[in-house]
Amino acid sequence: MLEVNLCGLKITSPLILASGILGVSYSTMIRLFNSGLGAITTKSIGPIPRRGYRNPSIVEITPGTFLNSVGLANPGIDYFINEIKEIKSHNIPLIVSIFGDSNKSYLDVAFKAEKAGADAVELNISCPHAEVSSIGIDKKLTYSLVNLLKQNLKIPIFVKLNPNVTNLIDIALAAENGGADAVIAINTISAMKIDINTKCPLLSHGSGGLSGKAIHPIAVKHVYDLYKILKIPIIGCGGVESWQDVVEFFLAGASAVQIGTALHKDISIIKTINSGLSNFLKLNKVKSIMDIIGLAHQFETQEVSECD
Ligand SMILES: Cc1cc2nc3c(=O)[nH]c(=O)nc-3n(C[C@H](O)[C@H](O)[C@H](O)COP(=O)(O)O)c2cc1C
Repeated sequence: MLEVNLCGLKITSPLILASGILGVSYSTMIRLFNSGLGAITTKSIGPIPRRGYRNPSIVEITPGTFLNSVGLANPGIDYFINEIKEIKSHNIPLIVSIFGDSNKSYLDVAFKAEKAGADAVELNISCPHAEVSSIGIDKKLTYSLVNLLKQNLKIPIFVKLNPNVTNLIDIALAAENGGADAVIAINTISAMKIDINTKCPLLSHGSGGLSGKAIHPIAVKHVYDLYKILKIPIIGCGGVESWQDVVEFFLAGASAVQIGTALHKDISIIKTINSGLSNFLKLNKVKSIMDIIGLAHQFETQEVSECD
């Protein structure tokens, strides 16, 4: 009922761990998978270890909504290869999120991830508080990176989209034309919070990326718009904290969903979401969650009527 086939990756729940949240050590990733996730996306891994920005780098600004500027802190691909091998020895569907500082270094990292056993790579071209965001705001750069990786890798390539652009559809189409197998919509939204007493931004980096509850309706709208144009699957991401949020993403056109911020409280939320989804499908006499993809597109918007 909840099984999804995502570009050949067969997963038992449509709920996937989003990159950057608890996705660095294999023991935590295994625990999350055993709690009911369909697949794991790792923290974004780059060519060399990176410390990221100083604290404070994460703050909760309203209940369930966070601002972060972790700055792509990660142990580097050469260290991370062992984590990938360990997870794959438990037969867990694994998407390795990667970044680089040039097309070549993206390719080097992707190669190493593929060789270590990754089932797919997710290209982070979208982190709003790191250099990689410059790729995700430019359709030519997006096309050339995706195309290079497509020509050299055997495993599927997912592209994580940056919502901080004027036209997300242009970038998504560039990714699709370059050979992307799926896109993830969305990464965090560029944002800032200022402490009125110190008169300084709360985050050490100044600005950061907004995630969690507040961004869910924005992400749903992006998925809805992308579904009208793209031929490849869309993975919804942003503010999922209930089974209803997952259903909304599917109705908008998602083929799977990632969850991140909501896991900060309690990972038992994964089981609650899975059983809520199964009940919803049973009540609606739907055999597979894949049968509800895009159903909200039956809706027709209204013409504006003039006042009498
Ligand atoms: C603390 C933190 C770290 C993150 N690190 C990454 C990262 O390394 N790579 C990436 O592509 N996205 C990263 N993200 C973005 C999430 O994967 C996700 O796109 C975003 O948080 C929206 O989903 P959510 O509302 O379910 O958290 C990070 C988010 C948070 C909150």
